[in-house]
Amino acid sequence: MLMETILIDRPELEQELYNVAEVAGYLWEKGWAERNGGNLTLNITEYADEQMRALPAISPVLPIGKTLSNLKGCYFYCKGTGKRMRDLAVAPLCAGSIIRILDDCATYEIIADEPILPTSELPSHLALQDYMIATGSGYKATLHTHPIELVALSHSKEYLDSERLTKILWSMIPETLAFAPLGIGVVPYALPSSVELADATLEMIEHYDVVLWEKHGTVAVGKDMMEAFDQTDVLNKAAAIYMTAKNFGFTAEGMTPEAVQEIRTVFNLPNKR
Ligand code: 13P
Ligand code: ZN
Repeated sequence: MLMETILIDRPELEQELYNVAEVAGYLWEKGWAERNGGNLTLNITEYADEQMRALPAISPVLPIGKTLSNLKGCYFYCKGTGKRMRDLAVAPLCAGSIIRILDDCATYEIIADEPILPTSELPSHLALQDYMIATGSGYKATLHTHPIELVALSHSKEYLDSERLTKILWSMIPETLAFAPLGIGVVPYALPSSVELADATLEMIEHYDVVLWEKHGTVAVGKDMMEAFDQTDVLNKAAAIYMTAKNFGFTAEGMTPEAVQEIRTVFNLPNKR
């Protein structure tokens, strides 16, 4: 028997979810997605045709935890809470669901395929989605994951200063600055899934490419999920190089400030810090 799915006759939406699934597979392979670790959302409003808009809810009306005025009538694919990235990689709609934001901008309902409750970090993801619309960024994807080396660094006070950590990571290989020119911003520890964490994340993403949640994980945004993944990967690679040097018994020297400045000039990068 063929499963009823919202993807039937919606090849573009299917392709979008396929791209998300590809990234979920990489997160698992990298060891960043233990059990249900990490979560993601994708704005799919552009694929919400009349039929999709007419679909009845398959859940009660649920609170977001925040009022987000730019999300009225928007549709999102969300990883399900407690669901595994490695399962999402195989079947995105068995490990996540599609939600519709209601007119009060403070509640949502699930419309497809199954009534799988969205991730517990929904307040952070949707606050970012709201901001990405407000700024006309064209960004559609938000990604929270648990990259090992960056999380390890966040366990030492020495690396909790955003400016200091950013400078260390930029100086590991030239590409770090080129592809993460705004660097990484550290958010002090806050309870996972809390509105406090969502608010702090929102403040940071205005200034940095990736946000590091102390002793927890990262959050990145992008035009699509692959871009959000790449941002995280570039910065975690720099952290891994730093760590490898420590394992060899020395502290990585880092590119000289002059070499970093040269990259900035040649690639015409913003001189933020
Ligand atoms: P969820 O399973 O609710 O998405 O939570 C995973 C996680 O990483 C929380 O920060
Ligand atoms: Zn997490």
